[in-house]
Amino acid sequence: METEKPIPQETADVELELLLEAIYQEYGYDYRDYIQVSLKRQILNRLEQEGLKSITELQVQILKDKDLFNKLLGDLSINVTELFRDPLFYLALKKEVLPILKTYPQLNIWHAGCATGQEVYSFAIMLKEEGLYEKTQIYATDVNQVALEKAKAGIYSLSSLKEGTANYQQAGGEKTLTDYYTTDHKNAIINRSLKKNILFCDHNLVTDKVFCEMNLIMCRNVFIYFNESLREQVLKIFHESLCRQGYLCLGAQESLLKLKYSNYFERAENKQKIFRKTIHGNI
Ligand SMILES: C[S@@+](CC[C@H](N)C(=O)[O-])C[C@H]1O[C@@H](n2cnc3c(N)ncnc32)[C@H](O)[C@@H]1O
Repeated sequence: METEKPIPQETADVELELLLEAIYQEYGYDYRDYIQVSLKRQILNRLEQEGLKSITELQVQILKDKDLFNKLLGDLSINVTELFRDPLFYLALKKEVLPILKTYPQLNIWHAGCATGQEVYSFAIMLKEEGLYEKTQIYATDVNQVALEKAKAGIYSLSSLKEGTANYQQAGGEKTLTDYYTTDHKNAIINRSLKKNILFCDHNLVTDKVFCEMNLIMCRNVFIYFNESLREQVLKIFHESLCRQGYLCLGAQESLLKLKYSNYFERAENKQKIFRKTIHGNI
């Protein structure tokens, strides 16, 4: 009896490249410069769930079935997040950055790759506690519209909040997290007063451009999915978006090291990935 042979690595790589090209040509979403290992993992999972045998088969289906494409789009955007994720990062922001932002008459803040919104509400809480919220306009963007809808709704299961509550205390929270939501016994519903200065919108870091001048950009745990040339492209957008001496916050695993424009930024704080724009003008 004949047994099924695994797809050779090189064939799978070529098929993956063709699939990404087809997605870009047909739907305008550009994943060609994402790190392939993580893309491949998501794509192979989707193959299995759809009962398809090869990436090429998936490509054929994707081109004629928009619903399948939307499923894959959901798979490719990894939305893992939580309230006050990496609490020491928030503590550093509170100690080192917010005192400087307090001296500004108004603030624009951009959360790029905000997923389901927990990061945005975490920082909004911190801004409230520091008396900065009322003078701040927050832009929260993502490529994944399903995640954005969840972010806008600001409804999270109570069980998912356990970690967030501990994080909030570690991050130097001054009240209790329950002051910022109401509950229907299953879910936490974020207070309206926290949402009023937040604009959630669709923005793709790969294909969309600068849209406003920002005092601080948070783009945490997004660069890890991009290859070096895409990181450089996006870093250029951030540089153009930031005002003089604006702040850029990356995730714990991310760095500007070796990137083309890294000398346009300096570390604003020793331990966390908080950078400050040093050189003004266009790159
Ligand atoms: C792991 S989550 C990070 C969420 C949050 N920043 C945090 O650190 O908790 C990565 C997010 O980046 C978004 N993303 C990936 N590629 C993007 C792109 N090209 N433009 C905008 N957002 C993108 C994904 O949809 C996902 O919601």
